[in-house]
Amino acid sequence: MFGLDGPEALAGDSLGLLPGLGGSVAALDESRAAAEAVELPFPADAVTDIALCGMGGSAIAGDLVLGAYRDRLHKPMSVVRDYYLPGWIGEGTLVMLSSYSGGTEETLTCAMQALERNSLCVAITSGGKLASFYAQEGVPVVQLPPGLQPRAALIRLLAPVAVLLDRIGAVPPLAGDLAEARETVAASVAALRPEVPEAENPAKQLARALLGGVPLLWGAELTAPVAVRWKGQIAENAKLPAFASALPELDHNEIVGFSGSPSDLSKLTRLIMLRDPRNHRQVQRRFDLTRELVEGHVDSVLSITAEGESPLARMLDLVMLGDYVSLYLALLRGVDPGPVEAIDRLKDRLAQTGYGRTAGAEG
Ligand code: PA5
Repeated sequence: MFGLDGPEALAGDSLGLLPGLGGSVAALDESRAAAEAVELPFPADAVTDIALCGMGGSAIAGDLVLGAYRDRLHKPMSVVRDYYLPGWIGEGTLVMLSSYSGGTEETLTCAMQALERNSLCVAITSGGKLASFYAQEGVPVVQLPPGLQPRAALIRLLAPVAVLLDRIGAVPPLAGDLAEARETVAASVAALRPEVPEAENPAKQLARALLGGVPLLWGAELTAPVAVRWKGQIAENAKLPAFASALPELDHNEIVGFSGSPSDLSKLTRLIMLRDPRNHRQVQRRFDLTRELVEGHVDSVLSITAEGESPLARMLDLVMLGDYVSLYLALLRGVDPGPVEAIDRLKDRLAQTGYGRTAGAEG
């Protein structure tokens, strides 16, 4: 049996994603400070609505903050994963352009359109065309350090979204929530880091429980985007297909797929329910009742409940666990969690042809 304890277990992590995750508290502090310091050239009350444009690891930061504060937001907010801005985005829209690399073509085309619409733009990036183009246009840039994998920069991408929403008064003041989130991240690192042996480390244990199966993540409300983050991390780090969906919607279609005689796929399914103690009462009942319905049709069902007071802390409690699980699962599968060749290859192929007018395009 491949062991996860001891330094040799980490040899397969060529980009040091596990030690990098150990630096999450510093990442939160630095990124929060950068977002608090950036000068916004518009008053908070100029903002009527909010869009965060991004893809992959840079978009999920928006989903997670939106998921955590969806019931406390005073202003409408959407996450845009597309080449086009929706028609409603205009002069009063705060458009956060979130791209860790600053080179993602969908985000760059949105950046250009947001400027053309005179929207209130802010970039969150480590550089690339996005940073240089926006700096030249006088658009504020929350500068992140370069050299990371975008998905390993989640906390760095996420903290500015929370800070910016706070600064424009779109959410109740978040200083207390950010302080608790910091404690949660520190506690997660202390409990889940590689030095904690498997016998005492829930992330290592969970990774082993997922080995050989197909992970299916179910969330609801605050945990719905967390399930998507787990799916993405398992895919990118452990190189394993994973699936995510959300209650109550899945009760209206997906459960039927588990009601017949078990298929080869359902027999392999390792279902993880990501729950929030503050889920709507009916959602709590749905988790329990749906579990009863599907239990005999999947390989296993595990239920994990977020801990913490503030929405940000509860969300990060589960995100940190999922990040560690995905990295340990990679090591158990004998794959290097760092490189994502499929994404790199696709981006290279797409870059061989032009894709229209975009921020930072030459000529
Ligand atoms: O994890 C990844 O590498 C991807 O999901 C990227 O985040 C995505 O391709 C977008 O790139 P960026 O975050 O640099 O804009």
